[in-house]
Amino acid sequence: MWRVEPVRARRGRLQVPAPRNPLTEALEAAHHELNALEAETFEALAAGDIARAATSFRAFRQSAERHIRCEEELLFPVFEMRARLPHGGPTSILRAEHGQIRDLLRDLAREIESGGSDAERLRAALRGVVADHQRKEETILYPWTERLLTEGEVDRLLARARAFRD
Ligand SMILES: [Fe+2]
Ligand SMILES: [Fe+2]
Repeated sequence: MWRVEPVRARRGRLQVPAPRNPLTEALEAAHHELNALEAETFEALAAGDIARAATSFRAFRQSAERHIRCEEELLFPVFEMRARLPHGGPTSILRAEHGQIRDLLRDLAREIESGGSDAERLRAALRGVVADHQRKEETILYPWTERLLTEGEVDRLLARARAFRD
């Protein structure tokens, strides 16, 4: 069940507490930030500003790699332990997709830095993998993990995720 407080009606006043899904919300916000950095890179590239595209892409890649490591080193192990799905569960698919994302980021880095013409094809491939990957995390993995934890555990995991560095 979602950790949603029951709606409490009081005399002439309806209190509707916000749903408490802080882990899912924070990680969705991280995806949005990554997608904005990705868009920035390709806007610069479309405008012919290779230097700005390269700078923006470096920031995007660094943030994406950090997000992936945070999931693989902090979030997924917690899920695997609590769900008792260490092998062959949803995280094995997500980890394999992380591998594809990392490979595409590496290829894109080479292409963008050299001003190559294959960047748009690689971008389309990356978007194809990322869109489906993010959807699975946001609709299945994050909420499922959140349901397996107490509020205190969610808060501690979030604090560790926020402090996560390379
Ligand atoms: Fe992921
Ligand atoms: Fe993610």
